[in-house]
Amino acid sequence: MDPNTLRINGRRLRESLETMARFGATPGGGVQRLTLSDEDRQARDQFVQWLKELDLTVTIDEMGNIFGLRPGKDNSLPPVLSGSHIDSQPKGGRFDGILGVMGPLEALRTLHENQVETLRPIAIVDWTNEEGSRFAPAMVASGVWAGALDKQWVYDRTDINGKRFEDELVRIGYKGDIPAKAWPVQAYYEYHIEQGPILEREGITIGAPKGILCLHWYDIYLEGEANQVGPTPMEGRHDALCAAAEMILKVNELPERMGGNMVATVGEIQNYPNSRNIIPDKVHFTVDIRSWDDDLALRAWDDLRTDCEAIAARRGCPIRIEETWRVEHSPFDEGLVKRVLANAEALGYSSLRMVSGAGHDASYMNQIAPTAMIFVPSIGGRSHVEVENTTWEDCEAGANVLLHCLLQSANEPQA
Ligand code: GLV
Ligand code: MN
Ligand code: MN
Repeated sequence: MDPNTLRINGRRLRESLETMARFGATPGGGVQRLTLSDEDRQARDQFVQWLKELDLTVTIDEMGNIFGLRPGKDNSLPPVLSGSHIDSQPKGGRFDGILGVMGPLEALRTLHENQVETLRPIAIVDWTNEEGSRFAPAMVASGVWAGALDKQWVYDRTDINGKRFEDELVRIGYKGDIPAKAWPVQAYYEYHIEQGPILEREGITIGAPKGILCLHWYDIYLEGEANQVGPTPMEGRHDALCAAAEMILKVNELPERMGGNMVATVGEIQNYPNSRNIIPDKVHFTVDIRSWDDDLALRAWDDLRTDCEAIAARRGCPIRIEETWRVEHSPFDEGLVKRVLANAEALGYSSLRMVSGAGHDASYMNQIAPTAMIFVPSIGGRSHVEVENTTWEDCEAGANVLLHCLLQSANEPQA
């Protein structure tokens, strides 16, 4: 058959997504499938079963990354790789990550049932802990695989209950023995929902990001002095939560102060002892700064740090700052971005060049292999929430673009 006429099966893709949405389903219609949780394990087990049903060679590495490899005609050539993540945010949605795992699975099912052979092998991957919500930072397993992060450092990261990453990986049975070390990749494609409002607003079906913003994460720890709230006068207090409140507003003002082209967010806070009648003596909060301009993001942090230190000193609340994680902005491979746009056009879908504000494993993959992403619209621009949604038609459209990108890259001869 003429491979140009191949199309994925939209109904089967929908069924796969609906099956996956049952693992960690929340009453609000979303999923809570935190990395290395029991729900993550259940979804991984299902994924591995599907990979085996397709006769793919399944390997699990020491970071818990799951690969499924479909041989090509010449298996000495570097494979084409596509994947994303199975884990979710707390009260996350049914599309973030999992669409980029079920999409390539559906593409390989389509090749399989049509007995289409490719020159190069094609592999699917589920990267462990993309979200970084349970164990910070994000994208750690692709980071280790790409050689950008240290494996032991990631193993020793702990969640809010003090559980170690490595121990949890062992507990769910997904610490494999294959080294988490990159092999040559011909091209990496990550299929994902946009997670923002642009495609829907413009009435466009396919987004082709030119790259991903830089991501900088910080952790701030404040010490105060606890005391009974009634008898303790307002003057002379060392209220760690009030110090944090001032700092959080500084974070929120940062993008405007730096002249835009940036977002800055405090999304997580812990207050201790968290009692209405005790002055807080310990606060931890996170800072997330993103921009296409790495230097601007670093200058913003310098300013913020100075402000936070001044606030801490004025309020008599010692401060400790951890510069937890930085990933530079990732400009994708222009040839692959064009390929995404060309396939959208050939398939009759409208398309748009854009930028990804969300982080993806594609950031680290971009450091070691030609990389591009395929976006489809998020209804209402909502993501990392239970109401996150994308139409089944758009899910199908993006998977068709992915299928043809995979086919073209997998049929590229050795340069
Ligand atoms: C990943 O989900 C991120 O953009 O934070
Ligand atoms: Mn994601
Ligand atoms: Mn996410």
